[in-house]
Amino acid sequence: TALPLSKGNAQDYPSRTITMVVPFAAGGPTDTVARLVAESMSRSLGQQVIVENVGGAGGTRGAGQVAKAAPDGYTILLHHIGQATAATLYRKLPYNVLTDFEEVGLVTDAPMTLIGKPDLAPQDIGALIAHVKDKKDGVIYGNAGVGSASHLCGMLFMSALGTQMTTVPYQGTGPAMNDLIGGQIDLMCDQTTNTTGQIKAGKVKAYGVTTKNRLKSMPDLPTLQEGGLPGFEVAVWHGAYAPKGTPKAVVDKLNAALVQALQDPKVIARFADLGTEPVALDRATPEVHKAFLAAEVAKWKPVIEQAGVFAD
Ligand code: MLT
Repeated sequence: TALPLSKGNAQDYPSRTITMVVPFAAGGPTDTVARLVAESMSRSLGQQVIVENVGGAGGTRGAGQVAKAAPDGYTILLHHIGQATAATLYRKLPYNVLTDFEEVGLVTDAPMTLIGKPDLAPQDIGALIAHVKDKKDGVIYGNAGVGSASHLCGMLFMSALGTQMTTVPYQGTGPAMNDLIGGQIDLMCDQTTNTTGQIKAGKVKAYGVTTKNRLKSMPDLPTLQEGGLPGFEVAVWHGAYAPKGTPKAVVDKLNAALVQALQDPKVIARFADLGTEPVALDRATPEVHKAFLAAEVAKWKPVIEQAGVFAD
């Protein structure tokens, strides 16, 4: 029989269901990306990869659960830029972002869009900036908790305006989107994965996109930079992780299945509909992911410290 995993042998791996933890509620962009990738990985690995939503604390509850899981390749994490920002936002994290995981590979790049409830008065980003500066905490901003991408975008927006809004944290921007459409909250910044459909259906008001360039999927939507926020730039990237100590042979099998998913025509087409892109294959290696994560932690540390926003 094959040597146990501990001997670094992955011949029999995977021999049972793999759990992919998504650190946000179902229905949000992270969940959407995860389910598309998991379905494709199930096919190439020959075992079910099931998604488990573990929300809370801006994604750090789910990430912490995976950091403490058995390093056997049967529990993995699908997370986004929040994995990097949490290293600075949370000064008492129960895990070390840079050393308690094995990076499996980067997955997507997703721009964000700043969107309002359908009857929010301002008609464009210039008027919205004036409105927020005037109403201040009278404007209700929804996010997925400190450490989420929607939180990071909101933090940058409020820093740029020098104004604090009232923020309402959700378990994910899936639930937050429902309240935005319903008018319970006024504003949100979220990944195109979650907003493209709602914008095109006229369910929310779109003010701008957070990347330097406009979206191919919505060419008429101006960038926030065009609209009066010079230098405003934030995009969301997703990556997959296993607990530290997971044998390299197992990580390599997971990476191979991930890379297959990124080349799966169904996944690519669905991502395109959602304004999201799979990473280029030369960025989809564990080594590139590890280096990129460290660079992102270093990039956002001063920005977060300058904004003076911490979770604990
Ligand atoms: C975020 O704001 O970090 C994500 O949109 C949360 C989610 O995927 O639900």
